[in-house]
Amino acid sequence: MKDFVYYTPTRVVFGKESEEQVATLVQQFGGSRVLVHYGGGSARRSGLLDKALALLKRAGIHTVELGGVVPNPVLSMVRRGIELCRNEQVDFILAIGGGSVIDSAKAIAYGVCYDGDVWDLWAGKARPQACVPVGCMLTIPAAGSEMSSSCVITNDETPHPLKRGVNSDLCRCKFAIMNPERTFTLPPYQTAAGATDIMMHTMERYFCRFDDMPLTDALAEGLLRTVRDSAIEVLRNPTDYRHRAQIMWAGSLAHNDLTECGYEKDFATHRLEHELSAMFGVTHGAGLAALWGSWARYVMPRHVNRFVQFAVNVMGVTCDFADLERTAMLGIEAMEQWYRQIGMPTSIVELLDRPVTDEEIATMVQTASRGGTITLGSIEALDTEAMTAIYHIANH
Ligand code: NZQ
Ligand code: ZN
Repeated sequence: MKDFVYYTPTRVVFGKESEEQVATLVQQFGGSRVLVHYGGGSARRSGLLDKALALLKRAGIHTVELGGVVPNPVLSMVRRGIELCRNEQVDFILAIGGGSVIDSAKAIAYGVCYDGDVWDLWAGKARPQACVPVGCMLTIPAAGSEMSSSCVITNDETPHPLKRGVNSDLCRCKFAIMNPERTFTLPPYQTAAGATDIMMHTMERYFCRFDDMPLTDALAEGLLRTVRDSAIEVLRNPTDYRHRAQIMWAGSLAHNDLTECGYEKDFATHRLEHELSAMFGVTHGAGLAALWGSWARYVMPRHVNRFVQFAVNVMGVTCDFADLERTAMLGIEAMEQWYRQIGMPTSIVELLDRPVTDEEIATMVQTASRGGTITLGSIEALDTEAMTAIYHIANH
């Protein structure tokens, strides 16, 4: 078991009436001049954007709008936001959307407080020292950015786009408003990709070097079973409030470090996926589903017991005590079967409709390993050879 600090400062306001509190919450955290940041149109279409603007206006809060955040949010938008915030003397940023909008808001918030080129923070040239306060109204349960310390941005100014994350408690949302009804309009693909990302945030902590925290295991396994079942239910009935609510809350708990207590992050699949979404612009959750089975097959033989525990406690596989490795493999296959059931890919070809070339794999490995200077993961440290092998296993 690893020593740990558990810090989750975000005030969660959850439920059907939660949106009514937006102005009070903004004011409570010092906001009087607010950047309202949103994506490509879903927040406007649903009426949530107009509702939030009206509530802020009624409370006498000055607002500036910046929409158009794309999935896998980009640096050029972050720069626009920083300039706007400085010109308008913004003191609070309200993100209305999903992980992409929230991450773009967090990046702008860092950038406003940073004197140099904001990309320095992702390039590892500087650490964040300050951040404008950020709050959010979540519309898609997936990335967990509403409670996480992470901010993932794609540099669209380099010849090969670079997708990078930076972690700091400074950017954690002051509040997260979550109304599961707002997720009723999510298309099946986004619903499924979101559920996959939630599962993966938990599994990336479950499969680590440690396995001696039964309480953390129980929380993780309960969360995984819940998302597994609720995803099927909401794909059948998109307006099922109870199951939408389970997924929404699970999305936050999966990435607010609760299922990391005593353990540590692996996140190798995430790092390998970030290369796929940087190069091909794929949906993050779908990219994770395409890679996980290959990662699992690669590492499982040296961690059979942990994979057996996952197979039995999460995927409901019956343990074959005479052949534990077979039980472990059945768990991996059951997980992949779930991906297929919800419409997610289980290989790169299913994701992209074509295999990636050897050159593309080499580029992704080069970028993921920072030119061969770092390894990925904690259950096993994956070197460039291992990364290459996993991309090849997934390339069918
Ligand atoms: O742009 P709009 O029109 O709003 O449409 C969005 C977008 O196309 C749509 N959408 C959102 N809410 C909707 C809706 N459509 C209908 N009804 C609604 N209620 O869904 C699409 C995807 O939105 P996006 O915000 O991109 O999804 P997600 O929350 O999955 O975020 C993905 C981004 O987060 C990063 C990913 O890498 C990716 O860039 N991550 C951030 C993390 C963090 N900060 O902690 C951790 C994650 O591992 C992840 O890396
Ligand atoms: Zn993720």
